[in-house]
Amino acid sequence: MKWPANRILQSSPKSFGMYEQAMKLMQEGKDVIHLEVGRPSFDTPLHIKEATKKALDDGVVHYGDFAGDPLLRQAISDKLRSFNGLDVSTDEILVTNGLTHAAYAVFMAAIDEGDEVILLEPYYPQHVNKIELAGGKVVTAPLDRENGFRIDGKAIEARINDRTRMICIVNPANPTGRVYSREELQVIADLAVKHDLLVASDEVYEQITYDGQQHTSIASLPGMWERTFSMFAYTKAFAMDGWRLGYLACKREYMPALLKITVNDVAHVNVFIQHGGRAALTGPQDCLAEMVAEDDRRRRMVCRRLNEIDGIVCPLPEGTIYAFPDVSAFGKPSQQIAEEILAETYVVTEAGTFYGPAGEGHLRICFGAEPYEVIERAMDRLRDYFSR
Ligand SMILES: Cc1ncc(COP(=O)(O)O)c(C=O)c1O
Repeated sequence: MKWPANRILQSSPKSFGMYEQAMKLMQEGKDVIHLEVGRPSFDTPLHIKEATKKALDDGVVHYGDFAGDPLLRQAISDKLRSFNGLDVSTDEILVTNGLTHAAYAVFMAAIDEGDEVILLEPYYPQHVNKIELAGGKVVTAPLDRENGFRIDGKAIEARINDRTRMICIVNPANPTGRVYSREELQVIADLAVKHDLLVASDEVYEQITYDGQQHTSIASLPGMWERTFSMFAYTKAFAMDGWRLGYLACKREYMPALLKITVNDVAHVNVFIQHGGRAALTGPQDCLAEMVAEDDRRRRMVCRRLNEIDGIVCPLPEGTIYAFPDVSAFGKPSQQIAEEILAETYVVTEAGTFYGPAGEGHLRICFGAEPYEVIERAMDRLRDYFSR
């Protein structure tokens, strides 16, 4: 009996990074601190939970609209206009099971066997798996490491050929913490228009930016709405990672193909969860600012503590919940450093190479998933490790 299908055999093995090694230590009862997992530490705001509970009590339990609750899509349309500068009607929005489902639907609907998709490296690894499952080939274009991981138009253009179908960006970027400027995004927009490419834009961290940094949706640049799939989720900013709720926006003509994937995959998103999603967009927004302010406090502490260690250079990330310190001065592969840190201090970090070879010399440290005091303890342990 043949098992599994070729599409599984041909896609890269799914890796959980340092998580599996950390699990072993946890089972041994060690005091493991998780700085690798990319999720918020906060509870979901109360008014979002209340709206969801009310929907359940009101009997919102049956099949719903495949594209998502029309009232939720109206709230999303309003948010896209006010926050993202996008004029999107409700039939150009698909409510999804988090950003994961949005990206899966986009890659499955857009990519033919052998089509090439350019990812900026260091990249978010889960996009690699999805592109490969869709039959596509991932081609990586390094970000400009010497200049703080800026977008490098020349590196991207050198990789474009007649098989290239799409450029996929993550903005704000995981793992580098960059918030791409309008000028950098314009470089990608110009290439997409010049070579007639689609763009998938993962904006899962759009609301988590610091020091007044403005998030720009690439679809808002001239000529980009026609070719961009803008993907968002409640996951990070609203502390709703387990809820599995997100959405994507694109030109009306692309919707039937995306719906075809969605209907055969999940049918539609859980109906009462969508009521919580509407409350999140239409209710009080102070909770967002409060959570970002706490992330900011942790960000400053983590970067200060890391920069105090001789040999580490850690610029303040402009967005996201990740610091991406340069540890190349220690002269060891970043995977080895991450493994030694785990074995000696029980702090879980992620090696930069988990995000592609261009991440060598870096560690990714999540400051969003644990309380301030716990992260401080982790920083003490990192200081002790690096001073040995
Ligand atoms: C860049 C990026 N995209 C997508 C996701 C997954 O988002 P979701 O949980 O909404 O599927 C993550 C989660 O860490 C992420 O960092």
